[in-house]
Amino acid sequence: GNLYPAPRNQAYTLDRAVTAEKYSGNYNNFYEFSLSKTVLPEANALKTKPWTIKIDGLVEKPFEIEVEELIRKVGLEERLYRHRCVEAWSMSVPWTGFPLAKLVALAKPLSGAKYLQMQTFMDKAVAPVQRQFIYPWPYTEGLTMAEAGNDLAFMATGIYGKPLPNQFGAPIRLAVPWKYGFKSIKSINKISFVEARPKTFWEGLQSAEYGFWANVNPAVSHPRWSQASERVLGTEQRVPTLIYNGYGEQVADLYKGLEKERLFV
Ligand code: MTE
Repeated sequence: GNLYPAPRNQAYTLDRAVTAEKYSGNYNNFYEFSLSKTVLPEANALKTKPWTIKIDGLVEKPFEIEVEELIRKVGLEERLYRHRCVEAWSMSVPWTGFPLAKLVALAKPLSGAKYLQMQTFMDKAVAPVQRQFIYPWPYTEGLTMAEAGNDLAFMATGIYGKPLPNQFGAPIRLAVPWKYGFKSIKSINKISFVEARPKTFWEGLQSAEYGFWANVNPAVSHPRWSQASERVLGTEQRVPTLIYNGYGEQVADLYKGLEKERLFV
């Protein structure tokens, strides 16, 4: 309770207004519960306390940790971040959480670890769409070790100065604002350190449209729509989309030498 609101890290500010919660909190993607954007009532079925994250794979010693204990170990801060969905809508929100790098440090990865694979809970009893076989459940995502170590990669446990409401991915989700929103996996219960590039949920579903890197780029269209601009939630505005969603200065170096890869799909 007394952890929120956390002190704001002034290094992460915005050039646009914060999106009001009445918009961002009623327009969510959380396919485990519903394919509709008004997933809030269904998502409330998830029990998020207690919640344990398993850390395994290429680490000194695999372990499990309660989210509350993890928060007590690493501390919390608030950051204002943009969020750009691949569907061409966007929002700007105050996340509360901690840099993913702090969790990586706790995990003590071995030198062979090249990627992190993150996984969402699996529970068909509370998440009805997980009963549909066409989806490669559970939802998984991945980052390279270098991406995970970038200061922008953030584990969010709260939003708007309070713990995450369920529809935002309680009790802990990723926020990687230079990538399309589907990389920011919700309700994480496992992080594995692995050598091979992990296959992600969306790649498993439709690899021609959704790749591993998924960095925001207005010049690279989705096969079915343009990524040049975005609809700002809660406004009537469409604004131009920026390369790396405006975070190029912090992240462009991560991709030097990788120009042959599908960095923006
Ligand atoms: N994580 C899980 N587990 N399930 C999902 O369906 N949707 C992704 C991402 N993380 C999703 C997920 C997509 S497509 C987006 S745009 C963001 O969550 C949406 O985050 P928001 O609802 O907090 O805006």
